[in-house]
Amino acid sequence: MTKTQYYVAASIDGYIADADGGLGWLLQFNGVEGVDAHYKAFLGGVGALAMGAATYEFLLAESREAWPYADLPTWVFTHRDLPAIAGGDIRFTTEDVGLVHEQMVRAAGGKHIWLVGGGHLVAQFAKRGLVNEILLSVVPVVLGSGAPLLPASIPGLLDLQGITRFGRGLVELRYEIPAGLDRPHATRAAET
Ligand SMILES: NC(=O)c1ccc[n+]([C@@H]2O[C@H](COP(=O)([O-])OP(=O)(O)OC[C@H]3O[C@@H](n4cnc5c(N)ncnc54)[C@H](OP(=O)(O)O)[C@@H]3O)[C@@H](O)[C@H]2O)c1
Repeated sequence: MTKTQYYVAASIDGYIADADGGLGWLLQFNGVEGVDAHYKAFLGGVGALAMGAATYEFLLAESREAWPYADLPTWVFTHRDLPAIAGGDIRFTTEDVGLVHEQMVRAAGGKHIWLVGGGHLVAQFAKRGLVNEILLSVVPVVLGSGAPLLPASIPGLLDLQGITRFGRGLVELRYEIPAGLDRPHATRAAET
């Protein structure tokens, strides 16, 4: 069954990018023991992706290294005319997140949906009760400010499904968001 997963890395104080939008604090963990194989296994289970414009612009700035998600269908939420990155199967959209989610489930062909981020976009999916899991890599740094992990409120306890420890103090926490609560009314996401 297709699950919608927010697979993301954050500082221990809950930021996914620093105050300048930088990811140097995270990228220093590339190649750390266990990380690459774990990411590869995760990506193998993904059938469709979604991201917000700010996240896409980060990739755009790095795109000399080519589109990193092969031919996986990708929805980029934006109100602007952003250039496409060569090699990507990219659909720019302003459609309702619920309608896009239905398209993503179909496109994923039984595999999972990866909500790449950022937090402002994922909060909109969470508000609709459309996020099933959060796979959170906790990076042992304190940033103090930056882009928030998930500016939304999800009532109740998340269900901790697993803990994976990598080198240099990096830990992944895998949480399931239990179904059954009145999520659409109970969650409150920041508007973008
Ligand atoms: N650490 C990690 O694992 C990780 C993961 C992902 C991202 N990041 C970083 O996080 C930062 C961005 O996070 P963020 O939460 O600030 O931004 P974001 O969610 O990537 O992008 C927000 C922007 O997306 C567009 N948007 C959002 N919802 C929309 C909707 N429903 N319809 C149309 N457009 C919509 C709007 O841009 P416009 O209206 O201007 O088009 C909005 O300002 C970046 O620096 C990125 O590199 C880190």
